[in-house]
Amino acid sequence: MNVLMLSPGFPAEMPHYARGLAEVGARVFGVGDQPRPALPKIAAESLYDYLHVRSLWDVQALAAAVRSWLRGRSVDRIVCLWEAGMSCAAELREMFGVPGLNVEQTVRFRDKGVMKQTLEAAGIRTPRHARARTVSECEDAALRIGYPLILKPIAGAGSQDTYRIDDQAALREVLPRLRHVAEISIEEFVEGQEYTFDTVCIGGELAYYNLAWYRPKVLIARSEQWVSPQTVTLREPEQPKLAGGFELGHKVLKALEYSTGFTHMEWFLTPQGEAVFGEIGARPPGGRSVDLMNYACDIDLFKGWAEAECHGRFSQQIQRRYNAAIVFKRARGEGRIQRVEGLRSILARYREHIVCVDLLPIGAPRRDWRQTLLSDGYLIMRHPDLPTTLEMADRVGTDLQIYAG
Ligand SMILES: Nc1ncnc2c1ncn2[C@@H]1O[C@H](COP(=O)(O)OP(=O)(O)OP(=O)(O)O)[C@@H](O)[C@H]1O
Ligand SMILES: [Mg+2]
Repeated sequence: MNVLMLSPGFPAEMPHYARGLAEVGARVFGVGDQPRPALPKIAAESLYDYLHVRSLWDVQALAAAVRSWLRGRSVDRIVCLWEAGMSCAAELREMFGVPGLNVEQTVRFRDKGVMKQTLEAAGIRTPRHARARTVSECEDAALRIGYPLILKPIAGAGSQDTYRIDDQAALREVLPRLRHVAEISIEEFVEGQEYTFDTVCIGGELAYYNLAWYRPKVLIARSEQWVSPQTVTLREPEQPKLAGGFELGHKVLKALEYSTGFTHMEWFLTPQGEAVFGEIGARPPGGRSVDLMNYACDIDLFKGWAEAECHGRFSQQIQRRYNAAIVFKRARGEGRIQRVEGLRSILARYREHIVCVDLLPIGAPRRDWRQTLLSDGYLIMRHPDLPTTLEMADRVGTDLQIYAG
C-alpha cells in the first residue's frame, strides 16, 4: 500500500504517524516544505521517499510536482493529520481519485459555520451562532444571539483570535483586533466544563474512543499565562455524568458521515448537565493528547490509526488502566530559562506515576505560550484513581515553578 503523507515532519507529532504507517507495512511517500535534512529522524526513517516542495498551499503546483515525482506509481491513500493541511489533502484526493474525505466533507470539518449548520439540521445541540464579515454584521448578530458571546475565526485553530465578549462596549473594543480575520463566527457563550471525544473510526464504526477533560476551560488556559493547563484522559469514560457527551459524539460523526481515521471533538458539559457541541476536527488532537491516550491504555495509537487507515482493522486490545494527565508549565519572567524549582520533591513523591518529564533545559529561550500549548515544557502522570491523578496534576501546577530571566 502506497500512502502519500503531507507534512510528515511537522508539527512535532507527525513523525509518529509516519512511523505507524511504516510499521503496518505502508510505503510512505512524504511531501513537505521542510528540506530533507531538516526532517526529524523518526520521519526520515519511516519514509519510502520524500518530495520537498516550496509550498504546501499552492495545490495546483503541488499536484503537478507530486505527479511528476510519482512517475506513474499509484497512491492508495492521501493522509494529513495536521489541521492546516486538511483542505489541501482533500483536493489532492479528488485530483488523484483516492478514497477518504473529499473537499465537501472536509469543509464541514473546517468551516465552523457549515459544521454547526449541518449538525443543527441533524437535531444536535450546538451554540446559537452566526457568521459575519463586517462590523455591522457582527453587531446585528450580537443583538440576535445575546451576551455573553464568543467571537472566533470561522476557520480557526489553536484558540487564536478567540474572545469572550460580555457586552456591546467590549464588542466594539475587540472588533478592530479581528480586522485581519476574513470571516468571524459569533456564538452564544456556553458555560460549563470542557471535554473532548476522540475516536479512531473504521467505516463509520468506533474502533477506539477517548474522553478527556480540559482543566481549566481552554479559553481560560489560553488567555492566562499563570495557569498550568491540564488535559486529563479519563479511565472511565462511561460515567453517567458524561453519557450526554458520548451520545453527542456518536450523533456528530453520523451527521458528518465520517468514515475512517482519527477525529477530535470538543464539547461542553453545562452546569445543568447538558452536553453541547463545541467543534470537531477530522484529525487527532495535538498537545500530546495521543500520548496521553497511549499511556492510559498502554497502546500505540499512532500505529493503531495507521492500521485502521490502511487495513480497516484495529487489532490492539483496549484496556483502560489509568487516568493520564499532562500539565503544561509556563515560566515566570521573560528570556531564557534560569532555574526549575520543585521538580525534585514532585519526583520524590510521585516518581512511579510520572511517565514523562519534558521541560526546556536551563539556558533555552522561553517558548511563546500563546503560540504553543507545549509552553515551556510539561509532565505526564498516570494513576488508576482519578482524584489521585488530579491531585498530582494540581501539585505540578502549584509546586513546580520555572523561572526565566
Ligand atoms: N460557544 C462557546 N462557548 C464557550 N466557550 C467557547 C465557545 N466556543 C469556543 N469557546 C472556547 O474557546 C476555545 C477555542 O474555541 P474553538 O475550540 O472553537 O477554536 P479553535 O481555535 O479551533 O480551538 P483549538 O484550540 O482546539 O484549536 C474553546 O476551547 C472554548 O474554551
Ligand atoms: Mg478547539
